[in-house]
Amino acid sequence: MQLFRNIVLICAFVAAAVITLVQFLHRGAAPLMSAGGTEGLKHRPGHKAKHWVFKAVAFAVVAALGGFLFAASGIMPIKASSGHWPITAWLLNFTMRRSVITHSLGMNAPKLDDAALVAKGATHYEFGCRPCHGGPHLPQPVIAGHMTPHPPHLPPEIPKWQPEELFYIVKHGVKFTGMPAWPAQQRDDEVWAVVAFLLKIPKLTAQEYLKVARSLKAPAATIDDLTESKQAPRIITDNCARCHIVDNRARDLSVFPILAGQRTDYLFASLLAFARGERHSGIMQPLAASLTAKDMREIAQYYGNLRGPSPAPVSVEIAPAIERGREIAMRGIPSRRVPACSACHGPNRVRRNPIYPELAGQHSEYLALQLELFNKQSRGGTPYAHIMHRVAGRLTPQQMRDVTAYYGSLNSAAEPAAR
Ligand code: HEC
Ligand code: HEC
Ligand code: HEC
Repeated sequence: MQLFRNIVLICAFVAAAVITLVQFLHRGAAPLMSAGGTEGLKHRPGHKAKHWVFKAVAFAVVAALGGFLFAASGIMPIKASSGHWPITAWLLNFTMRRSVITHSLGMNAPKLDDAALVAKGATHYEFGCRPCHGGPHLPQPVIAGHMTPHPPHLPPEIPKWQPEELFYIVKHGVKFTGMPAWPAQQRDDEVWAVVAFLLKIPKLTAQEYLKVARSLKAPAATIDDLTESKQAPRIITDNCARCHIVDNRARDLSVFPILAGQRTDYLFASLLAFARGERHSGIMQPLAASLTAKDMREIAQYYGNLRGPSPAPVSVEIAPAIERGREIAMRGIPSRRVPACSACHGPNRVRRNPIYPELAGQHSEYLALQLELFNKQSRGGTPYAHIMHRVAGRLTPQQMRDVTAYYGSLNSAAEPAAR
């Protein structure tokens, strides 16, 4: 039955093609045969225009019908194994380039030469991009090499693009190619981090790449210096530790939040929110979505039972900011109807809802970014996240910096444990 249908469609397609060709030859040849035949038309321009409109419409209809019959007959090969003809590959690539250049006009890249931003992009590249594009001076992935078009080896390609154009490609992906869009369209800041890293790719050796993308300073499987000495779950050592560190030390990069000492309920609820797409991050959503609820519970318990790391030393220049921040945290800003943060985040001895996160000792840059995201309504989270949309919306950028500098300066390990 299927075969019969295909044969009929192919015959119809061939018939349509032959009829179109015959018509075309016949019409095209007519004026050649009677050179004087067009004389009369010269005096009737309206008739000539109508004639051409009719021809154009007829041609469009026949072409559309032919195209449909061609697709319906199934003779068009869609196999990736044969690759594209060089002309098709050129045309698609040309169209893609022109589209990216046009759509990124007027965009302005932020400052991208920041080591922490580069590391954030690199760690994501390792699991989000390398399986398709490979890494600098590293073997190219075998399976992705059989895609059509296959994902290009990026180091020689990057210098051909402006940062804004790379941003456009990474954020929106490329249709018909398999190049995916960024999983969290709200997070331009994360896309810029990937661009910051891409700009470094052309000059990296394989060793330098692996160091920044997987870097871990001595990943400890067991923690000897803690009372809660306990083997970290496999999933943490294999995966999360790359960015969050396996024990209670802080990775010296402010872009990765410290998990050690965070409250268990908050960690679990946050992983669930990432997995369900209720908290937006192109980096954390795919990772969390691959965890089972049991993994999440185990991870949350592991980090929740650790003490937080000792705080980084505070420079004297930011002492006034910390003092202003302390005021906001303890008393709020009554004139702007900002509540005291300490009521929900401490530090104090009052019992708080266990899902409210601990802020003491967290990287202040990370906290400031989260306030900015709450303010732009780009961060969801647990069922209580709406509280923070209102709070953050009432803080000025300066107040955000002050209050997060204050929380960053606290020693979480020494805080009263009103858990
Ligand atoms: C599923 C495979 C896949 C993944 C994952 C993927 N890409 Fe791609 N990417 C492609 C393909 C295929 C193309 C080719 C598009 C074309 O030919 O127009 C491409 C094109 C690109 C280009 C344009 C290169 C050029 O000059 O033509 C850049 C830049 C890029 N990808 C960056 C990334 C980054 C960064 C990531 C990770 C965030 C990523 N890609 C993830 C498949 C992938
Ligand atoms: C590629 C780096 C990377 C890896 C790997 C990674 N994370 Fe994250 N994680 C981040 C970043 C960046 C953020 C901040 C997200 C944001 O800005 O929304 C984050 C945030 C989190 C948060 C929220 C912290 C808070 O205070 O709200 C939790 C919980 C978390 N990660 C757990 C994990 C777990 C569990 C794993 C392993 C399965 C993991 N992460 C693997 C980069 C990573
Ligand atoms: C009524 C309770 C409440 C008050 C008051 C409050 N917060 Fe929050 N805050 C929360 C909750 C709940 C979350 C967790 C949001 C989520 O992810 O669901 C949160 C999250 C945060 C986070 C993100 C933490 C992380 O690890 O990602 C920051 C930063 C923060 N709050 C800062 C503040 C500051 C600064 C103030 C005071 C100006 C404040 N909050 C006042 C309830 C509160």
